[in-house]
Amino acid sequence: MRVCLLGAGLIGMFYTMSLHGKRGRDRVSVVYSRTQKSADQFAKQWEIPVATNDMLAAIERDDIDVVIVALPNHLHKTAVMAAAKAGKPVLCTKPLGRTAAEAQEMMEAVESAGVFAGYLEDLVYTPKTLKALKSVRGGAIGDVLWVRSRETHSGPHSDWFWNQEMSGGGAIIDMGCHCIEIARNFIGKEIRPVEVVCWADTQVHPIETEDHAIGMVRYENGAIGQFEVSWAFRGGMDLRDEVAGTEGTIWLNHWLRTGMEMFSACGEADYVAEKAESSKGWLFPVGDEPSALGYVDMFTDVLDALEQGREPSETFYDGYVVNAIMDAAYQSVKSKRWEPISLPVWRGQEKTDHISVSRDFDDEHHLVKQERMPDGSTKVILKNKTTGEISQRIV
Ligand SMILES: NC(=O)c1ccc[n+]([C@@H]2O[C@H](COP(=O)([O-])OP(=O)(O)OC[C@H]3O[C@@H](n4cnc5c(N)ncnc54)[C@H](O)[C@@H]3O)[C@@H](O)[C@H]2O)c1
Repeated sequence: MRVCLLGAGLIGMFYTMSLHGKRGRDRVSVVYSRTQKSADQFAKQWEIPVATNDMLAAIERDDIDVVIVALPNHLHKTAVMAAAKAGKPVLCTKPLGRTAAEAQEMMEAVESAGVFAGYLEDLVYTPKTLKALKSVRGGAIGDVLWVRSRETHSGPHSDWFWNQEMSGGGAIIDMGCHCIEIARNFIGKEIRPVEVVCWADTQVHPIETEDHAIGMVRYENGAIGQFEVSWAFRGGMDLRDEVAGTEGTIWLNHWLRTGMEMFSACGEADYVAEKAESSKGWLFPVGDEPSALGYVDMFTDVLDALEQGREPSETFYDGYVVNAIMDAAYQSVKSKRWEPISLPVWRGQEKTDHISVSRDFDDEHHLVKQERMPDGSTKVILKNKTTGEISQRIV
C-alpha cells in the first residue's frame, strides 16, 4: 500500500515504524506536516519520497492508496471529510472525534461516500490482547462480568493535548477511549452500553481539563467496563487490563512488567520506553514497542481488510460508540450521577438478557457456592428452589 500520512508527530512516527517494518512492503509515500521543514525532516528520516505542507493536495494525489490521519484531535474531522470527498480510503487515529456528534458526522461522511474507513485503536490489537480475546470469545472464562482497563502516565508530550478546544478534553478523551474500547471488545461489541458514572478532577496540572478520571460503563447484560485514566501518575506508563468472567480471569500487563526488568546503577544512555520517567535504577524496557502496542497487528488487519473488501475489526462506527460513552462520562462528571449513553445510531443487539449462572445441586436446591475448607472438608452453600432459603452443608 502507498500511504499518505497526515501528521509527522509521535504517532506518525510509530505508524511509519510499524508500516515499514523490517522488510515490509507497505510504505509511507507522502507525508504532510504543518511546516515544510518538519515534513522534509520526517521524510528524510523515514525515506519518504514526497513531503508537503499542503494537506488537501496530499489527500487528492493519484499515487496513494490510503490516507492515515495522525493529526491533533481537532483536525480529525477536517481531514476525514476531505478524504471522503476525494473518495480515498481513510484510517483515523483515536479518538475519532472530540464528541459523538463529530464522530457521527465523520462516520456518515465515509459511509455515504462509500469509502473504506478504519478506526486505529491499537490497544485492542496488542499480541496479548488478541490472544486474550481469542480465549474469551472461545468461552474460556465464561461470560465477561467486569473489565478493568487502566492507562496512566505523567501527561502527554505536546501542547495541543492540554488545550480543551483542540483536544476536546483531558485524560478521558485521550486515554479513556482506549480503555472503553478494550472493555467493549471483551464484553461484546453487540451488547449495548447503557449508562456511565464517572469521577474526574484536575489534581495536579494548571489546566482546564481533567488530569485524572475513573468511570464505570454499565452494559445491558449487566457487565461493567471500568476505566481508570490519569495524566498525574508517576513512574512511567501503566497499561493494564483485567478481565473477570463467570468461569475465569485474565490479567494483562502491557508496559511496566512486560517480562524485561533491568537495573542500571550508572544509567541507560538510550531511550528506555514510551513515557519512562527514569533511565537509572530499575527499568522496564520494551523489546519491540510498535508490536507491543498493537500497531503491527492493527495495520495488518486494516490493510488486509482494505485489500479484501471487508470491514476491519475497528470501524468508524466503533469510534463513534466510544465517543458517545465519553460524552456520557463528561455529563456524569458534572451531574455526579449515572448518565444515559445517547446512541442515535445503534447497530448491535436490541435486547440482551442479564448474565445469569444457575447450577443445580439436586432437585430441591441450586448450588450457590462450593469450597474446600482448610480441614479438608467440602462445604456447599445451597438455595432452596421453592422457599429461597439459604443453607450450608458439609459434603
Ligand atoms: N496509541 C495511539 O493510538 C496514539 C498515541 C498517541 C497519539 N495518538 C493520537 O494521534 C494524534 C496525534 O498525536 P501525536 O501524539 O502524534 O501528537 P504530536 O503533537 O506528536 O504530533 C502532531 C502532529 O500534528 C501536527 N500539528 C499540530 N498542530 C497542528 C495544526 N494546528 N495544524 C496542522 N498540524 C498540526 C504537528 O506538527 C505534528 O506533526 C492525536 O489524535 C492523538 O490522540 C494516538
